[in-house]
Amino acid sequence: MACFFRRRIAEKLGRTLQQSEDAFIPALSAVPVFKKQQLSTADFKLSLNTLRVSGILPSSGDIQLQTEDLASRLKQDSVVEDVSAGSGVINFRVNRKLLVQKILEPFGKEEDDTFGLNSELFNTLKRGTTLVEYSSPNIAKKFHAGHLRSTIIGNFIANLKQSLGNNVIRMNYLGDWGMQFGLLGAGFGQFGCQEKLKQNPLQHLFEVYVQVNKEAEHNEDMRLAARDFFRQLEQHESQAVSLWQQFREITVEEYQHVYKRLGVHFDIYSGESFHQHQAQEVVQQLRSQGLLKTTEKGTGVVDVSPAGDMSNICTVLRSDSTTLYITRDIAAAIDRREKFNFDEMIYVTDKSQANHFHQLFQILLALGHTWADRCQHVPFGLVQGMKTRIGEVVFLEDVLDEARARMLHNMNQSKTTKEMDNPEDTAEKVGISALIIQDFKGPLQSDYKFDWDRMLQAQGDTGVFLQYTHARLCSLARRNKGIEVVEFNPSLLLEQASLSIVQHLLRYDEVLYQSAQDLQPKHLVNFLLKLCHLVASAHRELPVKGSPQDVAQARLQLFNGACSVLANGMRILGITPVHKM
Ligand code: ARG
Repeated sequence: MACFFRRRIAEKLGRTLQQSEDAFIPALSAVPVFKKQQLSTADFKLSLNTLRVSGILPSSGDIQLQTEDLASRLKQDSVVEDVSAGSGVINFRVNRKLLVQKILEPFGKEEDDTFGLNSELFNTLKRGTTLVEYSSPNIAKKFHAGHLRSTIIGNFIANLKQSLGNNVIRMNYLGDWGMQFGLLGAGFGQFGCQEKLKQNPLQHLFEVYVQVNKEAEHNEDMRLAARDFFRQLEQHESQAVSLWQQFREITVEEYQHVYKRLGVHFDIYSGESFHQHQAQEVVQQLRSQGLLKTTEKGTGVVDVSPAGDMSNICTVLRSDSTTLYITRDIAAAIDRREKFNFDEMIYVTDKSQANHFHQLFQILLALGHTWADRCQHVPFGLVQGMKTRIGEVVFLEDVLDEARARMLHNMNQSKTTKEMDNPEDTAEKVGISALIIQDFKGPLQSDYKFDWDRMLQAQGDTGVFLQYTHARLCSLARRNKGIEVVEFNPSLLLEQASLSIVQHLLRYDEVLYQSAQDLQPKHLVNFLLKLCHLVASAHRELPVKGSPQDVAQARLQLFNGACSVLANGMRILGITPVHKM
């Protein structure tokens, strides 16, 4: 695979420069394939700049002279067939037959599912226990586009970390505590109905919540009742607690059902309620370490400004001695570290909470929790205009229903849909992949406009296109079941259309590495979309049917390899590949 060639080139460099070959691995990268261009003449390039930065080459002197000098000292051999100097880079072309053989050989065997995942590139990444916290909706409130983004992004990060050999804990941290439960509890007596709660829990809780909020605006008694209910909750009075528990359980059950449709699961459903008591302890610790300051208004704050001049303060205690969102987050982080001893923790929320997490990590560090350095917030931008035919989105389920309905409508225009066993199920999976790809295409930090028509296009860079290509590759394999690819002859795959797929696959481990570094799915998304475009050309130019047996075998091996990498990549993104479409 890619490692084999990278190693060979690194060995050559190591020998020539009398250095450890390992040092060259990070400076080598596979050359990206450009779609309409001629086949690139090089397969790998070495960046001289990287060598200078890492101190392997002197950083003084003319870089171009250095490049040409080094290139001239590198000899070709049976694996590395050509070495040439470019601008600040050295290009390497490897033996094409060997390239095709090494890249395509794992497919159809057991290593199929791990292609690219055991790359030595990942040796520099620390492996361990990663806790990923994502989705984290608030009970009785809207499940907004931000929660959907957190759900799919967190799922991607968890999948990626897991694929690369980490032990991953997937956690959902519910907004299940706070004054809104006072309102909800008090309001339920007046506006709630057990019958409706059982029939349609999320809808009903939301209705009650909206009603009681309206009522509380002008009704002092309602506000008092809410405060009183919350006090009962905080003092663990059993009636209040059991109503709250019912709300929570019913909500989690409903969500689990919808998460399943999305292909998402959690190991743990925690929530703010879990940490009320510990939050008070945190306040004590802050006080005893001299970190808590009391303001004139009687609130408790922590100074998190770098200069210690109170220019950035964080409120952790209200004047009535109740704790806040951040206080519970401090307690929750400490608790998770004690329980799971994670090596790193990742929080996925929209970028409006960036300061919240910055403050959280600062306070943890101030408390002496050095592991807070290994906590990370992954922020994402806003989604504008996520609407269904009925109107504004309140529930996650509405978005999924709409995606399925629209996809089914599109599929009904095509004749193959009629032959499908379960078109609804396919429409659901394809619809969800469209949502995911629309969301993952750009940098996570960017805002974007939600657009049903654009995301559901069959051509163009969409999730539908990925699924369509995958289904087409599966159908090719099905139709040629009779042709057994025991051995394939790599010399029969040297045309541009096949070589560019092979060269593209050569980059897969680097792309995963990039995504693992910055936790951005766009690298993998763009890689897979490109793969699909290359497959489309290959489909046109390299027919299997009607070709001589050995040619057909070799081409099937190529298409099966592409199919396998496509499916594995899609799964990491959180997409379930469909076999028929
Ligand atoms: N429930 C919060 C919200 O909807 C998100 C929670 C994020 N996680 C955390 N540990 N604070 O805004």
